[in-house]
This record gives sequence, structure tokens and C-alpha cells, in this order.
Amino acid sequence: MCGIVGYTGKNAALPYLLEGLSRLEYRGYDSAGIAVIENSRIDVTRTGGSLSLLEEKLAPFLPGTAKTGIGHTRWATHGAPTEQNAHPHLSRSGLFAVVHNGIIENYTELKEQLVSDGFSFSSQTDTEVIAQLLEKNYDGSFHGTVRKTAAMLSGSFALAVLCRNEPDSIVCIRKESPLVLGKNENGVFLASDSSALLRHTKDVFRLENNESVLIENGELHFFAPDGSEEEKKSIHLNRSAHDAEKNGYSHFMLKEIFEEPAAFRNTVAPFLKNGRIEFSGFSPTKEEVKKISRVIITACGSAYHVGIAGKYAIERLAKLPCEAEIASEFRYRSPVLDERTLVVVISQSGETADSLAALRMAKEKGAKVLSVVNVPESTIANESDSVIYTAAGPEIAVATTKAYCAQLGVVYLLAAFLAFEREENGKGELQSFIREIRQIPEKLSRALDYAQEAQQTAKQLASLEHIYYIGRQSDFAAAAEASLKMKEISYIHCEAYAAGELKHGTISLIEKGTLVVAHACCDRMFEKTVSNIREVKARGARVLAVTTKKHLKELSDMEYVLTVPETDELLFPVLEAVPLQLLAFHTALLRGCSVDKPRNLAKSVTVE
Ligand code: AGP
Ligand code: GLU
Repeated sequence: MCGIVGYTGKNAALPYLLEGLSRLEYRGYDSAGIAVIENSRIDVTRTGGSLSLLEEKLAPFLPGTAKTGIGHTRWATHGAPTEQNAHPHLSRSGLFAVVHNGIIENYTELKEQLVSDGFSFSSQTDTEVIAQLLEKNYDGSFHGTVRKTAAMLSGSFALAVLCRNEPDSIVCIRKESPLVLGKNENGVFLASDSSALLRHTKDVFRLENNESVLIENGELHFFAPDGSEEEKKSIHLNRSAHDAEKNGYSHFMLKEIFEEPAAFRNTVAPFLKNGRIEFSGFSPTKEEVKKISRVIITACGSAYHVGIAGKYAIERLAKLPCEAEIASEFRYRSPVLDERTLVVVISQSGETADSLAALRMAKEKGAKVLSVVNVPESTIANESDSVIYTAAGPEIAVATTKAYCAQLGVVYLLAAFLAFEREENGKGELQSFIREIRQIPEKLSRALDYAQEAQQTAKQLASLEHIYYIGRQSDFAAAAEASLKMKEISYIHCEAYAAGELKHGTISLIEKGTLVVAHACCDRMFEKTVSNIREVKARGARVLAVTTKKHLKELSDMEYVLTVPETDELLFPVLEAVPLQLLAFHTALLRGCSVDKPRNLAKSVTVE
């Protein structure tokens, strides 16, 4: 959603702040700023636009002498992404500076009250209300003022605050939006997520909801939700800063696509022991599994598309009713859930607000919640009854690739696990399915070998305005994700349709030259999908077929073809993702788009 950083210690703060922001820029990047404190003054520097503009503005002043500061890279929710609305925001007299991740839902009434108290505002943001409220509430206690102010806020926030009267201190508090801290011999570091701390320390402290911390003279003083001081244990991270580098690739997205075989293998292999499936973090007894009456998978975006693929697998293998639900809708429905419902929340970041809200609603209704998460110290992981972690490693590109791939691996294993425990399926079919899963990493590598075709095909797509993606069954799940990948990084309008549904209206948009990407890998549905291909070709469409080598003859009249290796029909979405991600990547490059940081997007959407 946005990136918060902070540092206080014995060295110059500015270099640490800028380096930390560069590690978090993928979280949100429409404007940026820093505040440093020295000689009883808080100096703020902000820019609209990308972080590089802030770096240019600050370059003449590096490294600076201030030893305490905070920084922010913004994903605007209230007010345009301009310098005026960029964080940090200063209070009226310059007594406080604050950076904020989240949304203050009661900012309007707070702002009205502050205006009647004589405060004025220079931005359109909700965050500036916090800055002025801090000044209004100041009673001489820096930490006490921050807690008193936070108690008046509703909505979501991670705050880092400077106070002019306390030049060697920073106070942080969080509710819903994430904040982690760490320290080493150089000082204390804080950030929205651990990727900005990894080069300083692997032992991080994660603030829980309504916990606060006073960093004073290099010491960390934690306070519980009730305000009492508390001891806090750190989490040791088994990730390296190296993971968050491009390692010679032109873009993080390309690096992460080529990491997919490893991401899938590292995720799945630990759970496959002697032909059995054993998850760490989710180990219900056979009786508990047999009590499950249905499964609901809920998530957002690409994670939701994993849910669609998972639905087909759980239905067929475990013979359990299974639905895939968009979390932002599911959270506001009144679903009939009970202790026999297994709700699976899928989230790469583990911080997506809609998915977290759906998780909480499901728990309130008595359902058991299992989450599939890529970031260990995340909120969704911490609030689930059980967690299965993907091992994709830090994913920096905003458009997910390797995490999506790893999430598919988990849901496929989950389907087989439930089937084994329910004894709903012949051991033969399940063992064959597991064998196919074991071959996926090698088949992903083979799919990557066709990267050249995707790059060549992209040249035919770069000037298009519309692309339609169609498929049936798990080919539809693949089409949904392929469509999102293309549109979110190339800005071409794309729509995915169940192939059989196209003729119920949308086919009216097909005209001479329209490009239709037809996912035709599932043998069982192949002839039906070919009929749909014929329907659109009859209306002038050009077709890019995604299929396997054995169907090439029947598709010999397609304008373009991308092939993937054979596998179980349920597993095609993970293989089809590779050429379609590469197609989107190269198309976006040809269109001059910001592939790793597409416009308007953020890696972790921690607001509604
Ligand atoms: C991924 O390419 C998208 N940028 C987005 O749809 C993402 O999948 C969605 O926001 C869910 O994120 P999460 O997995 O971190 O919950
Ligand atoms: N709601 C705040 C704003 O619009 C913070 C947004 C963010 O999390 O970046 O400035």
C-alpha cells in the first residue's frame, strides 16, 4: 500500500532512509518524502512522482548530519499524488512530523473540529489531520501524545512520528497496517515490511494491532494495547537481502518469472514425504477432515484466480463442495458458515485489507480459517487458525508471478491432502496426481524454454487496445490470470471469459482483427473450446492459441500459438502462466510501461 521507513542511531539518517524507501517503492510509488530532525528543527523534503525525483532533490545534501528521520513512499487514497499531499506531514508549528500507511475513516469530523479549533490545512489528505491532532493533544509526553491521538482515529494506520522536542526519538503505533522494527550496532531501523530491514538485521520485531513503540537513544520500549510497557520477542527471518535484488535481470518481474520452477519446488517439496502430504502449520486429524462439509476459498486479484483453479481441484479430487469468492464481496455478504466450513484465505503479502476482513468475518461465524501466505510475519498469517506458507521468497514486482505459481502448488496439494484424508478417491488417481505435481518444476523450466516465442508474439500485440481471453474449466482459471497480468502491466484493456459464456453477449464486441487468446490445453474440453474458437474466427477475430503439442495440427490455422508441456488438466494453470506472463512482460516493455511498478497499483493493498 505504501512504504514507511525510519532510522535513529549514530550515523547519518538520510542514506538509510532513501535506501529503505527504494526497497519499499514497490508497495506504492506516486509520491515520496523524508523528514529529519536536528538542532531542534524538523526538515521535510517531499516530491510528487517517483522516488527518483526525491533522490535527485536530496542528492546535493547527502549524507547530511541528522541522525534521526522518517520517510514515506505513498499510494494516494485521499488527495492527488502531488508534493503538497506527499508525506511526511508537519503539524502547525512544526512540532511533529508524521508518515502514515492506511486510511483514517473519521478524518472529516476530526478535521472539522480542528478547523473550529483554529487549525488550517495545506493538503487534501486524511493524514494531515493526524499531524494537527498531535499538536493539539501534546501534553509534554511524546509517546503519550501519540497514543492519545491514535485512540481518536478510526480506520487503519501505521504511524511513525518525530517530535522536535525529542531529537533522538521516534514513536510508532499501528492498527491494521503493518510495521516492523530491528536494530544493530548502527542504530534502530523501522519499515512497513522486512525487505527494507534485511540488510541491517534478520531479527525483527513486528508491531501488533494497537501496540506502540518509543525508540529513545537507540533503545526500543514496546507498549501493549492497554498502554503498559511490555517485553517483546523478535522474529528471525530466513531471507536475505540478496533475494530482493535483480541479480542481473532487467526487471524484478522477469527474474521472478524465471524463479518459478524453484518457487514451486521449494514450496511443494517440503510437504511431500514418502508419498504422503504433510503440511507444517496445518495438520487436522482424519476425523477433523471428514467433518469438513465444504471449502470456501477467498482472496483478491491473482490470489482469487488461484482460488478458481483450487476449486476445480478440490471438487474433483476431494469430492467436497468448494467455492472461490472475491474477498471484497465475500466480506460484506451474509454467508452461512459454521465449524464444518473450511475457509481458505490466499494472500501473497498477508496484509490485503479485503482478505483480512473476510478472514475475520469467517472466524466470527465459526468457520475454521486456513491461510496460504508468502510473508511470514504478516497479519493474515497471524490471525488464521492454520497457515501454509509458500516459499516463493520476497516478490518485488507488483504483478505477482512466482507467488501465484507457488500458491497454486499449495492449493493442488491441499486438494490431494483432503482427498487422501477423506478417502474419497482411488489411491491410484491421487498417486498419479502427486507424480504430476512432482514433475511441475521441470515442466515449468521447459515452458520457460519457449520464452523466445512469447517475446516474438508480443510484437503483434503491443499496439492493440483490446484483448479477450477465453477458456473452459481450469483453462478458464488460466485465462483469468493471463488477462489480469496483461492489463495490469501493459494497460491494454483485457477481459477473461468462460469460453462457453462469450456467446451470451460479449461476442458482440468481436470484430475483424480482434485478438482472442484461447486457452485450449484441457483435453476434456478441447473440442468445445475449438468450437468457441471457430465462433470468434467466423466473426473476424485473430486467435492466439495456448495449447499442447498434440493439438497443434487441429489449430494449424491459428494466427499465433504458444505451447506448454502436457500435464494433468487441473495443473495446466501453473504451466500456462509462464508463456502468458512473458507475453505480458514483453508487450508492456514494447509499450514503454513501468513493468515492475505499473501505474495506480501497489503490491499490498492494505486499504479497502
Ligand atoms: C497481482 O498481480 C495483483 N497486483 C493483485 O491482484 C494481487 O494479486 C492482489 O492484490 C492480492 O494480493 P495478495 O496476494 O498480497 O493478497
Ligand atoms: N491515506 C494516506 C494518503 O492518502 C496514506 C496513503 C498510503 O498508505 O500511502 O496520503
